[in-house]
Amino acid sequence: MNQLKNDTFLKALMRQPTDYTPVWMMRQAGRYLPEYRESRKTAGSFLQLCKNAQFATDVTLQPLDRYPLLDAAILFSDILTVPDAMGLGLYFEEGEGPKFERTLQQEADIQKLVVPDMAKLQYVFDAVSSIRQALDGRVPLIGFSGSPWTLATYMVEGKGGTDFLTTKKMAYARPDLLHHILETTAQTVIQYLNAQIMAGAQAVMIFDSWGGALSHNAYTEFSLNYMQKIVNGLIKTNDGRKVPSIVFTKGGGLWLEAQAGIGSDALGLDWTVDIGSARQRVGDKVALQGNLDPAILLSTPEAIEKEVISVLASYGKGHGHVFNLGHGITQWTPPENAAAMLTAIRAHSQQYHV
Ligand code: CP3
Repeated sequence: MNQLKNDTFLKALMRQPTDYTPVWMMRQAGRYLPEYRESRKTAGSFLQLCKNAQFATDVTLQPLDRYPLLDAAILFSDILTVPDAMGLGLYFEEGEGPKFERTLQQEADIQKLVVPDMAKLQYVFDAVSSIRQALDGRVPLIGFSGSPWTLATYMVEGKGGTDFLTTKKMAYARPDLLHHILETTAQTVIQYLNAQIMAGAQAVMIFDSWGGALSHNAYTEFSLNYMQKIVNGLIKTNDGRKVPSIVFTKGGGLWLEAQAGIGSDALGLDWTVDIGSARQRVGDKVALQGNLDPAILLSTPEAIEKEVISVLASYGKGHGHVFNLGHGITQWTPPENAAAMLTAIRAHSQQYHV
């Protein structure tokens, strides 16, 4: 295994001392980069970028080549590879986001759902190995998955961008059916993340993008409990090292104390919470990742610097902060504004690590 040249991100996740606050950006490889749009044209589609290890490697490295101040790479793929492997038939319609050919609404279809053969996801594990090799130890590689709840919303609704009413109706009317979907998906995700770890992922993140749509009690029952199962099911790396995990519920700022108790090493924060108050609430149980509003990157370098200073100051002195956006970078971000953010983080964060 190649030696890491920059392990600042992994150290921060484990709340160990670092010289500055490490940073990566959710969706850092994506449409705001002209080189990404070029690769997507060559590959033919987004899914073809994901399914070909060389393309996935090229686009994963694009933001790192452009921005030397990034401290982590994230596997180029999608959370919806999992429901696709479970037989739902993922496709993308130009400008409309992800859709599925089949949905899980009928009891008979739901009862038939099983953990798929991981061979169906081999292209993801091949991408992980290929990216690790290409990184050659520059920075750690993050693997990821969707949370069972978030994946279930896509499987039940058949598409994104809804208010999840069919899924929530099932939660209240037939919780047994929804639990069957969630349990099968959780078991699948455990195998999926462990296979990413075996292929070389050095940290893993669980994206619970739609957990914030749940009511207080339903969040624990239908989302958090299944993320806890996953975190508990994670293996160590081939050389016996613990693989740090990050759990991110978008819109989950009300439940940070509960999230901090499920055994993950770090929590992702969206921009609605003050990171300093979040730190007080979780104490020294977990590291925190976040939480600049991605919309700030549409503004000016001066405004960006001011907001970076404010997030860093709110977290305050000490370790355990991974700088990130509160959600994915938008496709309308001028690439030079992302550079302004990274420069500001490096310049202003060192004072908090002395
Ligand atoms: O962060 C990264 O750079 C790694 C790659 C990554 C993608 N999707 C690539 C992608 C990751 C980690 C994801 C996760 C993902 N996918 C989530 C969870 C994170 C979040 O944003 O809340 C969700 C909900 C999805 C599902 C998904 N995939 C949607 C809703 C869409 C369409 C909307 C959009 O932003 O384009 C996608 C497509 C997608 N996934 C693209 C990329 C780069 C854009 C594809 C393109 O048109 O080129």
